[in-house]
Amino acid sequence: MGRKLVFTSGKGGVGKTTMCANVGIALSMLGQKVVMVDADIGLNNLDVVMCVENKVTYDIADVIDGKCRLKQALIQDADFPGLYILPSFHNYDTANITASNFKSIIDTLSVGFDFVVIDCPAGIDAGFHRAVAAASEAYVTTTPHISAVRDADKVMSLLNGYPLLNIGLVVNRVRGDMVVSGEMMTTGDISRLLRCVPTGIIPDDDTITVKSDIMRHNIECEVKQAIMILAENILSGKRKMYDCTNDYRGLFGKWKAKLKKLF
Ligand SMILES: Nc1ncnc2c1ncn2[C@@H]1O[C@H](COP(=O)(O)OP(=O)(O)OP(=O)(O)O)[C@@H](O)[C@H]1O
Ligand SMILES: [Mg+2]
Repeated sequence: MGRKLVFTSGKGGVGKTTMCANVGIALSMLGQKVVMVDADIGLNNLDVVMCVENKVTYDIADVIDGKCRLKQALIQDADFPGLYILPSFHNYDTANITASNFKSIIDTLSVGFDFVVIDCPAGIDAGFHRAVAAASEAYVTTTPHISAVRDADKVMSLLNGYPLLNIGLVVNRVRGDMVVSGEMMTTGDISRLLRCVPTGIIPDDDTITVKSDIMRHNIECEVKQAIMILAENILSGKRKMYDCTNDYRGLFGKWKAKLKKLF
C-alpha cells in the first residue's frame, strides 16, 4: 500500500496546490510512482497547475457516477511516466461525493502507487474532512502571517482527531530578508506556536508565480531546492531544512536585502 498524503490549510491561498503539484513532481523525480488527486471539488485548479486541463476526458465525478473506470480518468504526465493526475470537476454537486466513496478511490489508488498526493480545499468544512479522512499523513501548509498561522493551529487540532500516522508542517513563502530584519515571524516561532517541527521551509520566490510547476522546468532557483528538500524529507523521514535567511546575513546580505526591498 502506498502512502496517502494530504496538503491542507485553514486559510486559503497559502500554497497547497503549488506544494501538491511540485512535491508530486519531486517525488516522481526521486523514482516514486505518484498520483495526485484534486479534492478541491468545485474550485479545482491542480489540472491547470499541472498543465493537463485540455487533456481531461473523465474526472473523479465520472468515476463516482460509474461513467468510467478509475484507470480511464487518470492522466499521465507528459514529462514523468510515473506521475498521474486524477482531476476534479467544476460544477459537480459535492453532496454526491461522500467521504466513504472518496476514501475508497484513494484506497484503490494506493494499491498501485507509492504516493497518493491529495490537494485539499481551504477551510474546515465537509471538503476538508472528506480529504483528511482518506489520508494517512497530513501536511499543514501555512505562510508566516499571523492569520494563516492561527488558522493552521485550528486545523492542527482537528487533525489530532484523525488516526493519522504523521502530521507535518510546511511553512511557505518565507522572506529571508524580512526574517533577518525582524519584520517576519521566524519558522522557529511558527513551529513553537503550532507545536510541530516543520517538514519543509519554502522561500517566497517569484519564479513559481510565473511557472507554477517549477520542478519540471530547467531553471535554477531557491524554491526548487527547497521543494526537493521537502520531498526528500517526506520520502526518508529526515529533517533537513532549507535556510531562507542564508543569503541575507553579513554585510553583503544586508545590501542584498536592501536591493530586494527597492526592486
Ligand atoms: N513559495 C511561493 N513563492 C511565491 N508565490 C507562491 C509560493 N507558493 C505559492 N505561491 C503563489 O501563491 C498563489 C496561491 O497558491 P495556491 O493556489 O497553491 O494556494 P492554495 O492554498 O492551493 O489556494 P486555495 O486555498 O485557493 O486552494 C499562487 O499564485 C502561487 O503561484
Ligand atoms: Mg488550491
